[in-house]
Amino acid sequence: MAIRNVVLEGDEILRKHCREVSEVTDRIREIMEDMLETMRKEVGAGIAAPQVGIMRRMFVAEPEPGRVYYMINPVITEQEGSQTGDEGCLSVPGLIGTVERPQRIKIKALDLDGKEKEYEFEGWDATVMCHEYDHLDGILYIDKATNIREPESEE
Ligand code: NI
Repeated sequence: MAIRNVVLEGDEILRKHCREVSEVTDRIREIMEDMLETMRKEVGAGIAAPQVGIMRRMFVAEPEPGRVYYMINPVITEQEGSQTGDEGCLSVPGLIGTVERPQRIKIKALDLDGKEKEYEFEGWDATVMCHEYDHLDGILYIDKATNIREPESEE
């Protein structure tokens, strides 16, 4: 595994639509493991492929330490309710903002073996998945957030 550079806001790469992964190959698995390692080093809860310069529809999420999801060609099939909470992004360092997200979602995606799985998430888990999913369509949380601020300024 290897640490990859995180693309920062302002770079057009983060504003593009990503293309589907046509086949889950060893190279895709390697990129996903690199993404996990990079995300953990930067202390994030998720990272999407365009954040490491790979324009493919895939992300890694770890909403809670040790609980890792690899999502390839994810599709959100259901969403309901709403919640608001604070989010940050490895591509927008030093800021947080308040975002409205669905309270509950269903999402299907291929795993690292290329098998389709369906998941149900709610609360923070749903927020993480929606945030990472947005990256695949060139959307950043700051497009949707209110009260964007430095976390230190809250005291
Ligand atoms: Ni992000």
